[in-house]
Amino acid sequence: MSDQTESTSIIIVDDTPANLTLLGEMLREKGFKVRPFPRGRLALTAAANDPPSLILLDINMPEMDGYEVCERLKSDPRLSEIPVIFISSLNETLDKVKAFQKGGVDYIIKPFQLEEVNARVDTHLQLRRFQKELRQRNQTLEETLSRLRAMQAQLVQSEKMASLGVLTAGIAHEINNPVNFINASAKGLCDALRDIMTVVKRYDELTPDSVSEQLETINRLKGELGFNELLEGVAELSSNIYTGVQRTSDIVKGLRTFSRFDQVGKISVDLHEGIDSTLMILRHRYEGSINIEKHYGKLPRIVCHPGKLNQTFMNLLVNAIDAINSKKTAFDSETIRIETQYINDSDPCRAVISFSDTGPGIPKEAMDRLFDPFFTTKDVGRGTGLGLSISLGIVENHGGILTAECEPGRGSTFRISIPVSGTES
Ligand SMILES: Nc1ncnc2c1ncn2[C@@H]1O[C@H](COP(=O)(O)OP(=O)(O)O)[C@@H](O)[C@H]1O
Ligand SMILES: [Mg+2]
Repeated sequence: MSDQTESTSIIIVDDTPANLTLLGEMLREKGFKVRPFPRGRLALTAAANDPPSLILLDINMPEMDGYEVCERLKSDPRLSEIPVIFISSLNETLDKVKAFQKGGVDYIIKPFQLEEVNARVDTHLQLRRFQKELRQRNQTLEETLSRLRAMQAQLVQSEKMASLGVLTAGIAHEINNPVNFINASAKGLCDALRDIMTVVKRYDELTPDSVSEQLETINRLKGELGFNELLEGVAELSSNIYTGVQRTSDIVKGLRTFSRFDQVGKISVDLHEGIDSTLMILRHRYEGSINIEKHYGKLPRIVCHPGKLNQTFMNLLVNAIDAINSKKTAFDSETIRIETQYINDSDPCRAVISFSDTGPGIPKEAMDRLFDPFFTTKDVGRGTGLGLSISLGIVENHGGILTAECEPGRGSTFRISIPVSGTES
């Protein structure tokens, strides 16, 4: 007797005591726990108290017939899944059809052969077990799927946050200089204007008598304050403020060019502007340690999602900077070379943008997994491993290809090639 059989309980409902005895004995012999009942109502109470694995149900019975018993079982969500096998002497097709309509899984005609009952009980118990198992597996799968979805959303979010971090750090750094500059100039300008106003006020207060004496006092004051230098200073400080404001406005413009993330649909842009705005945002990460070499070709305006492509430029540039910074010994000659090229003898014409760095290159075994989501060689918290897979998605969405090349010990090159159909020159 298997463990499963031991824990399997079967309810038999039949108003003929001989049938109850016969079926009960056979099933008990097989090791099942059997509960026999001569009336439907009793069986329903017993099933509700301790749901069985299967029910053998007679149809013709006093008080409540088998159809009604079955109907009640099926309307109770806790009992509705228990397989019900009808055993009846009713031999009309209509009776059988009705039995199935009421929710029965099988129909055995009396007088029954024990072997037949046996075989059918086994089949339905097994079916029920499979069903339960399937449902459980399904539930586990659904749980795993929703866990994976949540994890993916979290990781995509952390990649977004990482990009946002680079962006905000870049802007803060860029804007800090001109803002400090404007601040200092504005303070100088205020001081100078205050002194100038003192002199102007004196002129305003001139009275008709003893004008020359009053003018002499004013001239003395002007000498003490260095009036002429003050006037020159005002011009210089104002021009400084203008330059600072101009610089800030350029940065804001660059930022706007960079983050056309919200742009719905494609627009026609100059990709060089996008690369330059990205470089502006990343300046604090490379300035002073890495040379940026730009070899821009003549690109036509390209219809694309500029915000998305800029995100790709940023991912590739950050990776190149990280790669160079990961070298144990850095040289003065560390360089990121950005090259753009228009290929107009292919169909369709293509724009090719490549980023080459003097980093350590990419080991062969990493090369195959580079674009896999979550593949990273960076420390936890530093890399999400999503940059390249997201970039690949963006480039492919533009109908393009993104490839990586590496000569061991000689750095890496990432190359974007996008078709330039529907361009505006
Ligand atoms: N320019 C590069 N030079 C060397 N290795 C690179 C370069 N770009 C990417 N890689 C490798 O590819 C991995 C995946 O990059 P990416 O998808 O951007 O994720 P992350 O930068 O978060 O690690 C990096 O961890 C690094 O090992
Ligand atoms: Mg990256």
